[in-house]
Parts: sequence; C-alpha cells; structure tokens
Amino acid sequence: MKLLMVGDVVSSNGTRFLREKLPSLKRALGIDITVVNGENSADGNGITPFSAEEIFSAGADVITGGNHTLRRREIYDMLDESLFVLRPANLPSAVPGRGVCIMDMGKTRVAVVNLLGNYTLSADCPFKAADEIIKSLNDEGINNIFIDLHAEATGEKRAIAFYLDGRVTAIMGTHTHIPTADCEIMQKGTAYVTDVGMTGPKNSCLGVKPECVIRSLKDKMPTRFEAANNEASRLDAVVVEFDEKTGKAINIERITVE
Ligand SMILES: [Fe+2]
Ligand SMILES: [Fe+2]
Repeated sequence: MKLLMVGDVVSSNGTRFLREKLPSLKRALGIDITVVNGENSADGNGITPFSAEEIFSAGADVITGGNHTLRRREIYDMLDESLFVLRPANLPSAVPGRGVCIMDMGKTRVAVVNLLGNYTLSADCPFKAADEIIKSLNDEGINNIFIDLHAEATGEKRAIAFYLDGRVTAIMGTHTHIPTADCEIMQKGTAYVTDVGMTGPKNSCLGVKPECVIRSLKDKMPTRFEAANNEASRLDAVVVEFDEKTGKAINIERITVE
C-alpha cells in the first residue's frame, strides 16, 4: 500500500494549490491513504473548519496538526467531533480532540499519529507518549503506524526515529516548512524523513511575505506576518510504500510539485 504525506499547508495559497494538484497526484502515484498537515492552513495561521474542509475536499483522509493547531478557537468543536482532524497526541488531556486515528482499509487497519517535539515547543515527552500509543495500537492488533512528528530540532527528530525504528511504519517530520534530503528506510524497517516541507507560497519565508520577516528580524519592530498569497505555489510531499502485513516500509520517496 502507499501513503502520501503532504507537508504543512500554508494559507489559502496552499489550500488552493492542494485542491488543484492533489487529485491527479494521488491517481498518478496510486495512493491509498493521504495525510496532510494543516496547522497553518487558515489565512492568519492556525486551522479553521473552513480550511480543514478545503483540505478534505482536495482529497485528504487525515489532517494532522502541530504547535499552531489550537490558535483558532473555531476549530475546537471540529477537533472534538471529527475523528480525522488530529492535534498532537502529547498535549494535556484538557486540550480538545485526539492525536491518533485509525483508518479501516478493509483488508487492514492503518493508524496515523500526530506527535509534537519538545525542543522550543511545549509538549509532554514524545518518547513516552509514543511508547504508550504504540503499545495500545499493537494490543489492538495494529502494526501499520504512521507518525507525523511535528518538531523543530533535526537532532530531536533523528533521536526519536532511532528510538522508534522497527516499531512504526514511518516517521515523517513536519513543522520547519523546509524539505530535507534524507528520505531513508532505517535499519529495522521504519521509513524516515526529517521534514516533508511545505505546501504554499514558493517565494516566501516559510509561507510569510519575506519583507515582514526581514522587518521583524532586522529592525526588531513588531510586525504582523502576512501570507505571501499571490505568489506561485509549491507542494512538498513524501510517498511511503509499505507491506501492510508486516507494518514495515518498503520505500520512501520525495515529491515536489510546482
Ligand atoms: Fe507549520
Ligand atoms: Fe508548526
């Protein structure tokens, strides 16, 4: 089977481009399951029911989140009500929603897990959370487990990958909006990439108009970050091919669409 993971969708530029490109991409690649990180999909950051619906209508099966998921209150009910809009699993239980979903694929079940890193972000221990989640999924007989690891530090992502190698099907990093060139199958059969990248404005600073970021960093002036919405777009993703009987990855490949 094949799972497509699409990197952080940023603003209406990103959702528009996703709707334009995802359906044909899924057909061309023969994708069974599509996961899209949507934590920045709303204009003005965060995720709203509107931007989530845009992502679902483009063809996503599951939407994952990150440190910006809770920014917009409008999404809280949807997090509670939809089984397929995730927020990081390792947040306090008072936070609405859930961080794990299980897809029934007929012949097998596939779990998607959203985890948040600890370095510069605020989360409960991702190692411990992963241990608990993997145990409960294995107890239910599920061994196809895909993790969207939303984290800042490359070293932390790499350490978590070694810790989980052989216990999950794939660990796909998100959050930095910068695609990394390190797709690999690890020694014990887990597919790994440090960061999938971004779907949104191409000539931007992580999705934001460069002049806003320059003003903030160079002049140290409080600056409202505006999405670079009129720019050309790009879509970054990885495709993981896996053996659904063993839960092991067979191949991981990077896709970029411009
Ligand atoms: Fe993001
Ligand atoms: Fe993030």
